[in-house]
Amino acid sequence: ASSMLRRLSSLLLEQIGSFNSNLSLTGAKKHVLIFNLLRKATSSVSDMDLSDMRKKYKRDEECFEESQLASLDPIQQFGNWFEEATKCPEIGEPNAMCIATATREGRPSARMVLLKGFSSDGFRFFSNYESRKGAELDENPFASLVFYWEPLNRQIRIEGSVERIPFQSSCDYFHSRPKSSQIGAVVSRQSRPVPDRNFLRQKNAELEEKYKDCEVPMPDYWGGYVMKPHYMEFWQGQTNRLHDRIVFTKPGEGEGLGHFQHRAEGGWVYQRLSP
Ligand SMILES: Cc1cc2nc3c(=O)[nH]c(=O)nc-3n(C[C@H](O)[C@H](O)[C@H](O)COP(=O)(O)O)c2cc1C
Repeated sequence: ASSMLRRLSSLLLEQIGSFNSNLSLTGAKKHVLIFNLLRKATSSVSDMDLSDMRKKYKRDEECFEESQLASLDPIQQFGNWFEEATKCPEIGEPNAMCIATATREGRPSARMVLLKGFSSDGFRFFSNYESRKGAELDENPFASLVFYWEPLNRQIRIEGSVERIPFQSSCDYFHSRPKSSQIGAVVSRQSRPVPDRNFLRQKNAELEEKYKDCEVPMPDYWGGYVMKPHYMEFWQGQTNRLHDRIVFTKPGEGEGLGHFQHRAEGGWVYQRLSP
């Protein structure tokens, strides 16, 4: 590509030669100038243009109507879609979800974690309490989860507040993991800088030796969280772009039904949103 650019810039130089006789640049400098100009122009052309990337979603007959809700309890509805995702062979990790947290000032950050359980209490995951997400959750408990199951054309968005789960529940889960994962959690002061990979490798080897014949104690900087949802949205993509969006929210105390809202279960209401 660079030899082509060189050739093009030489051609251009020839073309404009008759106009630049009063420019005080040397031939070589003009060449570099035009070469850089062309490189800039062509590099913006070769930016990845994804505007034509469009995937076929579902046909209108496969749409997601309110009558197809498996439950009017959104956590049970989540369970229904989650089970379908676990049965879908093309979905490698159906429990992978993106979690967005934010600082006290509202600056967001997002990353993937694994859902490790859900119930009427909420959605459970495990992490390092001193990680970036841990620090953000300490100062701002509001977070947002997104699941995307591409082969099913489905997305679920969940918003709510996050709390630490009881110490004993974290401990039980910690010790149910393979020993290598337990050691990994002790080794990693997640989100903190380290000099290099070797530093981690050495620390891992030391701890493997230390705990070879005994239980790994759960570090106090590690544990579980539960997100208690107040917003849950079920999105299903359709080829005709009339995507389905059914949203469950929890109205405040004494708040009546809003526009196009319907009563659901467990204090939830639901409504359809325009895609
Ligand atoms: C599929 C997937 C699953 C992950 N699961 C977890 C998890 O359950 N807990 C966790 O702390 N980090 C998990 N991670 C790593 C996080 O994405 C992230 O790198 C880490 O938690 C540090 O994030 P933070 O610095 O924003 O706190 C996972 C990453 C991927 C790609």
